[in-house]
Amino acid sequence: MASVPKANVPKIDVSPLFGDNMEEKLKVARAIDAASRDTGFFYAANHGVDVKRLSNKTREFHFSITDEEKWDLAIRAYNKEHQDQIRAGYYLSIPEKKAVESFCYLNPNFKPDHPLIRSKTPTHEVNVWPDEKKHPGFREFAEQYYWDVFGLSYALLRGYALALGKEEDFFSRHFKKEDALSSVVLIRYPYLNPYPPAAIKTAEDGTKLSFEWHEDVSLITVLYQSDVKNLQVETPQGYLDIEADDNAYLVNCGSYMAHVTNNYYPAPIHRVKWVNEERQSLPFFVNLGFDDTVQPWDPSKEDGKTDQQPISYGDYLQNGLVSLINKNGQT
Ligand SMILES: [Fe+2]
Repeated sequence: MASVPKANVPKIDVSPLFGDNMEEKLKVARAIDAASRDTGFFYAANHGVDVKRLSNKTREFHFSITDEEKWDLAIRAYNKEHQDQIRAGYYLSIPEKKAVESFCYLNPNFKPDHPLIRSKTPTHEVNVWPDEKKHPGFREFAEQYYWDVFGLSYALLRGYALALGKEEDFFSRHFKKEDALSSVVLIRYPYLNPYPPAAIKTAEDGTKLSFEWHEDVSLITVLYQSDVKNLQVETPQGYLDIEADDNAYLVNCGSYMAHVTNNYYPAPIHRVKWVNEERQSLPFFVNLGFDDTVQPWDPSKEDGKTDQQPISYGDYLQNGLVSLINKNGQT
């Protein structure tokens, strides 16, 4: 295969964002700004999350869950009996057709008595979990991980706010433990021999893909992946490879960020190359609360004026998730 040049994806030490030294924070912010206006991706290093444990616990889960359990946890798209599970639950693989499978969970604070669950507000769901006896400690680990990556994301949002010349809590004040619509998705890409041809997509330029080009439906995305190169980002030079790094988090803006900044921080278009290797892709989609709205502005203009209309995060998320499934298929 012809070699593809590497995308410029800087590694940024984000540890100052957890501290009080504003000078150091502004240095991080400037690096985030530069990355957001270049390829749109950077690696967050010194993030404070135990990613080796995340990887081990996820592997244990992926390798021990049975087909029967997958059906019991399946989202509505796979199991019609589960009408209330649109987002949270198991996304199955399909023999000969679809190789990827995943488990998605939402804010652990969405319990049956949560006001937005009681009112059946769209995009809010109570998580489903496998039997504790069969997967001891998995739920506890996964819920704690949600808060670990939430904390990292909270710090990153403060960095983005400073990068855009706003007060530090400009985004994070809308990112609250009680109602954030963020999700963790534990994606497994298996090694298969033979690999079913129907599970491989082919891009217009002939590249074999697991997932076609898209922008993320998120404010930002905070992704942990195995050490297997697979992502490509579209740049003015064409699609470029993103190097793998299983110690850092890969961070990029989603289309809500693009909208509210009038595309000053675009949502980079990216795609997943087909690679026949056992690997994990574990995104955290940073989503705000249903009724939160960030007022769009144009950071490149003195007066900040833009024609972009404000969109509530709930409306954005509902439309965005449906559009992505319509474009790229059910994951
Ligand atoms: Fe993506």
